[in-house]
Order: sequence, then C-alpha cells, then structure tokens
Amino acid sequence: MVREQKERYGTVTLSEDTDKQRVLIEYSSPNIAKPFHAGHFRSTILGNIIANLNEACGHTVFRINYLGDWGIQYGLMVHHLKKNGSEAILDRKSVKYMLELYINANEEKEVERSLPEDEKITTMESQKIFKKLEEGDPEELRLWRKCRDLSVEHYLETYKKLGIQFTAIEGESMYLTQTKQLLEDLKQKGMLKFRSETGVGYMKLKPDGLVEEAVLVRSNGTSLYLTRDVAAALDRHKRYQFDRCHYVVEQGQYLHFKQLGRILKELDVEWAKRYEDTLHIGFGRIAGMSTRKGSIVLLSQLLLDVKKVIIENMEKSETTKVEGDEKDRAADILTMTTLVFWDLKKPKKRDYIFNWNELIKKGAMDGSLIHYCHSRLCSLLSIYYKPEMDEGEIDLSLLTEREAVNLINKMIEYENVVEAAVLSEDPFEIAQFLNSFRNQINSALKTLQVKDKDPDIARARLQLFKCCRTVYANGLQLLGITPLEKM
Ligand code: ARG
Repeated sequence: MVREQKERYGTVTLSEDTDKQRVLIEYSSPNIAKPFHAGHFRSTILGNIIANLNEACGHTVFRINYLGDWGIQYGLMVHHLKKNGSEAILDRKSVKYMLELYINANEEKEVERSLPEDEKITTMESQKIFKKLEEGDPEELRLWRKCRDLSVEHYLETYKKLGIQFTAIEGESMYLTQTKQLLEDLKQKGMLKFRSETGVGYMKLKPDGLVEEAVLVRSNGTSLYLTRDVAAALDRHKRYQFDRCHYVVEQGQYLHFKQLGRILKELDVEWAKRYEDTLHIGFGRIAGMSTRKGSIVLLSQLLLDVKKVIIENMEKSETTKVEGDEKDRAADILTMTTLVFWDLKKPKKRDYIFNWNELIKKGAMDGSLIHYCHSRLCSLLSIYYKPEMDEGEIDLSLLTEREAVNLINKMIEYENVVEAAVLSEDPFEIAQFLNSFRNQINSALKTLQVKDKDPDIARARLQLFKCCRTVYANGLQLLGITPLEKM
C-alpha cells in the first residue's frame, strides 16, 4: 500500500470515507502592537496542522488569521504614542520600539488601578481615543494604521520562516460597520437590552449553568471583542460558505466561545447549531512566556536564538553537507521542527511551563535528530537504490529480522495514528509516532545492512527503507514540516 499510495499513504482511507466539506479554520490571530505570545504560537502550530489534517481528509479548507487589531487597547496605544512616544522612531520601523510603548502604556494604566474613577486620566483618555477611532477620526486612524502595518509586516516575515500560510489575513477592524449593523438588527428584533443605570447593552441567553447573558455594547457605546466576533462569524459564512468553522484558541477563552456559540444559536444560525460543540478548539496555556510586564518574548527572537544554536551545531559537525542558502533554508526548517516537536511533546489540552534555555539546549537537538533520520534514509537510497527495484513485489520472506518486522508493523499503525489525530484534533500522537518510528529506523539502519549483501536481501531491505522514508515524510508533512534530504 505504501508503494502504491506514496505521499497519500495514511490518509487515503480517511479521505475516501469522509463527506467533503468546506471548513474554515481560524488560527494564529495575534494582536497588533503587542507581543506574539505563547498562546498565539501554539495556535499557529496547532491550527496549521489541524488545517493540514482537514485537507488530507479531502475537505476544502480556508485558513484565516484574525488579527486583534481593534479594541480599547489601541486607544491606549495611540494615546501613549502621542503623549510619550515618537513617531519618527516608529517610522524607522522598529517593532521593538512599538512593544516598548505597549509595555509602558500598560504600566501607566496599571498605576492608575488604585485611583478613584475620575482620576484615571490615562484610562479615560484611551477610551476617548478609542471612541474617536470607532467614529473614524482620520488622525487617530492614521497612527493606528501605522502600528498595524508595522506589525503585519513583522508577522509575515515570521510566518514565512515557519512555512505557515493563510488563505487570508483579516482582523477585528474589518467589522466596524458590520458590528453597528448587527447591533441595530438585534435592537430591532428586541434581542438587545440596555441597563438603565449604565447604558451597557447585552443579550439574554437561555441559562445553561455557564452563561446567561452576553455584553455587546460598552456604556459609552463602543463595541467589544465578542460583538466583533459575532459580526465576523456571520460575515465569514457569507464570504466563504463554509459547512463548519473552528477557532483554534487557548482554553482560557472557553467562556468567550461558549457565548459566541450561544449567541449564534439564538440568532438561528444553522451551521453554528450543528457544530456548536466543536466551534472552539482549545488548548492548554504555556506559562512563562510573559506578555504585559517584564520581559517580552518575541517569537521572532526565539526563532533567531534557536536558529543560532542550530547553525553553530551545523558548523561544528563534520557531517554537515549543506552550505550557503541551502544551509540557511535547512536551518529555518530545523528551527520550525524544533518548535513544533517541542510543543507536541504533550497533548494539546495540557498546560506547560515554557523554559527558554531548555528549549534552546535540548529542543534544537531534537529538531536535528528528526531530520537526520530522514536524510540518512535519503543518502542510503541515493547510493544503492536503483529504479528497477521499483518493479515487482517486495519479497517479505527475506525480511525476517525483528527490526524489519517492527518497521512494517509501525507503518501499518500509521493509518490509525492519523485517524486518531483527526478525530481528537490533536497532532500530539503523530509526533509521538514519528519519534518512536525514528528510533526504529535508526536501529534498523544499523542492523539491516545492504552493502555487500546478497542482492535479493539488499533489494528487499532497500524497498523496506524506501517505504519507511515515504511514511516518515508523510507524517512530517502533516505536521507542516518539509523533510530535509540533506543536512
Ligand atoms: N487576538 C485574540 C487574542 O490574542 C485571539 C483571537 C481569537 N479568535 C477570535 N475569533 N476571537 O486573544
């Protein structure tokens, strides 16, 4: 089967058994002018793989990145930039500078915490500016756009290095008009109520022990994260005509997506009623990659640090076969692999503590081992495998060693592993599988020699190794990793 189905081995049965759907998967979704934190990192890695798995089942997948580019915090950002920052420095395109502004702005707001409401100058000013943004004030919008462009450019570079792609990069700011329209509609339908004391607008939901209502309008009339999500869900359905949609977002936003699902249900949205339970694909938190205060962990910095170690290792190693651009490309792939395998060390629901040093020291090593196994297979096959060996059956009676039987069993297991990952929407098991498959391949490479062996035995072994390479590469591809032939 492996020889016949090649790069489709592992997903053929799945794809034949599935009714084809249009699926929208939202992932990554970082916020502009703010650090790309661990939650976004996991969402990027997991979302990309979940999209790959859906594609492998034959679905048409829309990959959407929904930037957090709107909200009261951009009022704070613009306020701080005008008061304490320098546009000239920002113009020199320093994302770092923007993040410094972000941290300082938040500190300034933090200091006001204990003050009485009417003395919270920064908070009030930010709210005022956000209101102006919502009303379309050109000067405030100009500064906001500058921050947005800078962030997007920075993110695109990072995605490129990671080999992550999107059908579209959208964002909360797209929903200014549609949010207003939505609120108008809800008002007319009598579904939006206002609290007389505060003016806060909310929607009553049938109580389910978790959520009873959802706030959709602030007392000063501005919209909320949730309001924009409702508008976005309705709009995306119009544009992409999907059968189902999923949000790959950390578990901490569980209640938010519960509310979103309930509101859509209340609005009688068919797809949301059908897929309410799987709307949100949540995952555990990573502690220790801080955001607001303290050290900023920039994903781009993390990538650079890991890559640096990888390049050092490559330069130290006498077996390194790549140079120049090829070396650089290999190092990027090894970096991505390191991060993916680091994250997939545990099931997606598990929380974990992020340890920068450990990742760099141990993780970078793991990434290399993954590809080293593949490149060893490639080099063996390039020396000994001849095209005519593709013809005819593999004589299995010549493959009796324990190592050979293990490999065959492992390849049979692969189909189930992929299916389990599709069902659980958790690629963790694929990574586990590849780790143990790798160990088996490595030990088989030692014991199942082909050099100077009886030609029939050598041929059977080479065919076995060729199949292993196919399955191993298929697994890596599903995880969004291009297997290296040389390194
Ligand atoms: N930008 C959000 C955050 O950083 C995540 C967005 C999740 N997606 C959504 N449709 N709400 O928390």
